[in-house]
Amino acid sequence: MQVKAREVYVPPVLQDLRAGTAELHIALEKRLPFFSDTLDINAFKRLMQAYYGFYQPLEQALLDSGVIPDDFDLTPRLKAATLYADLQTLGAASTMLSLCRELPLINASAASLGVLYVLEGATLGGQILRREIAARLNLDADNGAAFLDIYGAATGRRWRDFIEYLGSRPLDAAERAAVVAAAQTTFSCFERWLESQEVLA
Ligand code: HEM
Repeated sequence: MQVKAREVYVPPVLQDLRAGTAELHIALEKRLPFFSDTLDINAFKRLMQAYYGFYQPLEQALLDSGVIPDDFDLTPRLKAATLYADLQTLGAASTMLSLCRELPLINASAASLGVLYVLEGATLGGQILRREIAARLNLDADNGAAFLDIYGAATGRRWRDFIEYLGSRPLDAAERAAVVAAAQTTFSCFERWLESQEVLA
């Protein structure tokens, strides 16, 4: 009997996103200090403060944008509150934390989807980072690193749900280009922000 390999459908917008952001992902991943020998608890706190300084205003911008498609449920995908709770657990929370002001422009639903692609995709790498931080700093979801495991065992399913949603949206070529451009800007804004906070290698 012939067994056909399971075919996973990759929608055109996802092909474009992957082609358009792969290099940006590799470049950022190389500079993030999660695997650095010098990453101690203080460096981790500073890194998570810098993450919060990006996620908080970016999620607020998504909420304020008015262009999130009506059938997309953003609330269960918001992560800044979990990041803040981690900072509180770590004794690193403060109302004085710097917040990024140079954010991607979210002026159409296509742009919102590009931003969301980056924020949702980051939960996948989060699973690798979670293991590293548990091994290295003894931190997990209960004592200050819940953000890295934000969707827990549902990580894969939630990513597939997002991709399915993305693939189900009717997007013309111009809109697909706008999705990719927003994703690229999200990566570059994040990298510039982290650099300005002096947490990158
Ligand atoms: C050292 C840090 C990071 C590592 C080691 C890492 C690693 C990974 C890995 C292994 C995947 C593929 C997972 C899979 O297919 O199951 C992935 C996907 C992804 N990551 Fe990262 N990542 C890191 C940081 C980030 C950051 C900071 C962002 C954005 C803010 C990001 C955005 C994405 C996106 C959008 C995808 C989805 C790619 C796709 O399948 O279309 N990653 N990452």
